[in-house]
Amino acid sequence: MIMRWDILFKWLGRLLNYKYISNLLTLSCFFYWLLLVISVIILLPRGDIMKLEIKNLCVEVDGKIILDNINLSIGDSEIHAIMGPNGVGKSTLSRVIMGDSRYKVIRGDILFDGKSILKLPVNERSKMGIFLAMQYPLEIDGVSNQDFLRTAISNKDNKRIGLYDFIKKCESGINDLSMNKELIHRSLNVGFSGGEKKKNEVLQIKLLEPTLIILDELDSGLDVDSLKIVCKNINDYINTHKETSLIIITHYPMILNYLKPNYVHIINNKKIVKTADANIIDDIEKNGYSKYTDNSIDKVM
Ligand SMILES: Nc1ncnc2c1ncn2[C@@H]1O[C@H](COP(=O)(O)OP(=O)(O)O)[C@@H](O)[C@H]1O
Ligand SMILES: [Mg+2]
Repeated sequence: MIMRWDILFKWLGRLLNYKYISNLLTLSCFFYWLLLVISVIILLPRGDIMKLEIKNLCVEVDGKIILDNINLSIGDSEIHAIMGPNGVGKSTLSRVIMGDSRYKVIRGDILFDGKSILKLPVNERSKMGIFLAMQYPLEIDGVSNQDFLRTAISNKDNKRIGLYDFIKKCESGINDLSMNKELIHRSLNVGFSGGEKKKNEVLQIKLLEPTLIILDELDSGLDVDSLKIVCKNINDYINTHKETSLIIITHYPMILNYLKPNYVHIINNKKIVKTADANIIDDIEKNGYSKYTDNSIDKVM
């Protein structure tokens, strides 16, 4: 039961019938209510604010519509898989969330932690905590992997990370991911194998500590053992960064044995045609995507 201090003060004031005390008590009442209002505002739950909310998103590139009326809500700590055959717009969705300027949003909005991010450039979105592990990580000759990482961390935190701290973090990440130590000194992704590139993306996650991670076909280019190592690192990360949400884009169900999604969305012909729980993965493995078309749009969320 909430103690009604205001009523108590009021009666005390009347009982004492002393002007100075009465004024003092009235003032206390005012501060009591002020404190109450401030606490309610502070303690209010995040309510319906989602980590990521995509509303009626339509995207075009070179005059061609690639995504049509996409709606997606991802809460804190949730894992969502986005599946579908080749060429349906999965990578496009990830690039639009990250802010790739080649894609034109012709309708809709993308909210991150309740704020529209459509007008923000990639680096601002990254600073807010969004990370995209790309399907085809870019090679940048002449920029060493370690310079790239150290600059990225320093920019995110708005202060240069000390060399000792950086080396310690890097070494621990490289060991966890069973990476070749030399990769940190080479030009970013230049000459890296497919698997090395993907592990390097996960090293960036471990160092940059994002709160929304998008994995675009992380499984492509990874052998079975490397896939297990990489997924273990991501699971360890989300277990120690509880509010982090994950979007896994894939067309192969295998990665979802290691990173278990709460929801699976199937994209086909520019639209999300089905949203279901993880039980749908067995059906996809057995029967493929052919029955999931935009004529069968069906959602369980
Ligand atoms: N920058 C681009 N320029 C032209 N077409 C593009 C571009 N990006 C994507 N597309 C086209 O959009 C469609 C969806 O591509 P994508 O999102 O990469 O598919 P998915 O990742 O599902 O395999 C494809 O037909 C692809 O050719
Ligand atoms: Mg793709």
